[in-house]
Amino acid sequence: MGEETATSEEVADTSQDVCVKYYTLEDISEHNNRSSTWLVIHDKVYDVSDFLEEHPGGEEVLLEQVGSDATESFEDVGHSIDAREILVQYYIGELHLNDRRKSNSKEVLDESSGEPSSWTTWLMLAIAALAVGLVYRYYTVEHKSS
Ligand code: HEM
Repeated sequence: MGEETATSEEVADTSQDVCVKYYTLEDISEHNNRSSTWLVIHDKVYDVSDFLEEHPGGEEVLLEQVGSDATESFEDVGHSIDAREILVQYYIGELHLNDRRKSNSKEVLDESSGEPSSWTTWLMLAIAALAVGLVYRYYTVEHKSS
């Protein structure tokens, strides 16, 4: 049981003066049963052993995710802010940096950078439509007067 303490690192977070414990996916996968139930959500490690019976979505769904990264399933359900607040009390540490998915931060960047470009596209289309309208109107008025 105490093996994960040997493989995981304790790193002093000097900015907050607290010790953050880092766990590898291997450490976490050892806690895959009812008496010791760990899972990862957004690179944070939670020991939800005491929450299994209380989970409104049932303990089965939690047990399916146990010992692994449950971020996707957690987000797919669209958990409320209340659910996210409950998470805090089961926090035990961070996922080891080497085991984090590289794409996580990139996805967020891609999403935010996509937004302004779609805005500009719509604006350009609106201006183009206005220009066409004005030219059409100019010619029809000119034809009538000549
Ligand atoms: C330890 C982390 C989790 C906490 C603290 C948590 C908490 C909650 C809470 C408070 C609810 C009630 C609805 C809400 O407030 O959103 C809920 C519902 C639910 N949860 Fe979780 N949950 C966790 C992880 C998961 C995971 C990993 C799954 C995987 C599929 C899951 C599946 C569900 C489902 C299916 C419901 C029912 C949704 C419904 O009936 O509308 N939960 N959870």
